[in-house]
Amino acid sequence: MSEKMIAVLPGDGIGPEVMAQTLRVLECVAPEVQTQHGLIGGAAYVEHATHFPDETKRLIDDADAVLFGSVGGPVEHSDQPKWRNCEVNSILALRNHLNLSVNYRPAKFYPALQNISPLKNSRLAGCDEILILRELLGDIYFGEKKTWHEQDNTYAQDTANYDAKLIEHMAHQAFQTAEKRSGKLTSVDKANVLDTSKLWRQVFDQVATDYPNVVLSHMLVDNCAMQLILNPAQFDVIATGNLFGDILSDAASALPGSLGMMPSASFSRDGKGLYEPSGGSAPDIAGQDKANPMAQLLSLAMLLRHSLNMNQQAEAIEHAIEETLNQGFRTADIMQDGCHLVGTTAFTNQIIQILMT
Ligand code: IPM
Ligand code: MG
Repeated sequence: MSEKMIAVLPGDGIGPEVMAQTLRVLECVAPEVQTQHGLIGGAAYVEHATHFPDETKRLIDDADAVLFGSVGGPVEHSDQPKWRNCEVNSILALRNHLNLSVNYRPAKFYPALQNISPLKNSRLAGCDEILILRELLGDIYFGEKKTWHEQDNTYAQDTANYDAKLIEHMAHQAFQTAEKRSGKLTSVDKANVLDTSKLWRQVFDQVATDYPNVVLSHMLVDNCAMQLILNPAQFDVIATGNLFGDILSDAASALPGSLGMMPSASFSRDGKGLYEPSGGSAPDIAGQDKANPMAQLLSLAMLLRHSLNMNQQAEAIEHAIEETLNQGFRTADIMQDGCHLVGTTAFTNQIIQILMT
């Protein structure tokens, strides 16, 4: 087998520290996988005066998969050149460059963490994992934007764009994903108001005829936000647009306890994968060994499974994480009474110890 190479882009904030721990785990389960580091975000700006240098573009083009950390600085510094538009110039540019059209965000419920969920235990009954599929290249994110002044007022405008082909690709991915799981698919839109959502719904209904084994239901996004809190167990696979997916995935990530546990995978049509925590760079806790490395580690597990076909190694990581939680080790974001508070490194040490036994 030829050696695989993954591009590692740690980025800013907690990115470098959770990435460093994640690479220790990679070394433990798959030492044969080659890694090459690249700069992105504020870290790239310091060296190259751009958030997404050409060298990084070449690196990710040559790689078999990309493991991304997080980018961005403190909100109060967002007018400094290093941080101005950093997320848009890095994350959105990366999605565009690699043509990453579908994003998978699993919110997994761990029995050991039942009591830190903001929901009552009774509402969690029957919850295992909610998988949100978010369209990543359309919608209000990439449509025309402008801000202008007229007379004594200032105006701003963002345009949401979708086209049937983009939605159709998304729908096929969603149906195929649902087919491999429970056969239940919830498509979320705002078809009572938006034209883009009406088109979305129409295309999903058309594509549904190709998948007789999947039960498709439609839900309006405002209702979905409420249903996620009232009755999360009704969901298995949720498919939605770019903006709704951004919002609903943060909401869903909080149900099992913390955004710090939610990984993600994004794929282009030709199968290239980028894997990253769903959360941000958390500058407030950066460099303090406090961050939860789970989202980054679980992103690595997804990478091993989907891009390198190393299912066994992926499962080993997932199992070791769950075991570490079962043994009572907790980072600050998921701390509970009677548990053992540890930092990023010690939490990972425990995972590695389990992997080595
Ligand atoms: C995410 C993030 C990004 C998004 C931001 C940082 C551009 O919130 O990946 O969910 O909105 O997509
Ligand atoms: Mg987000």
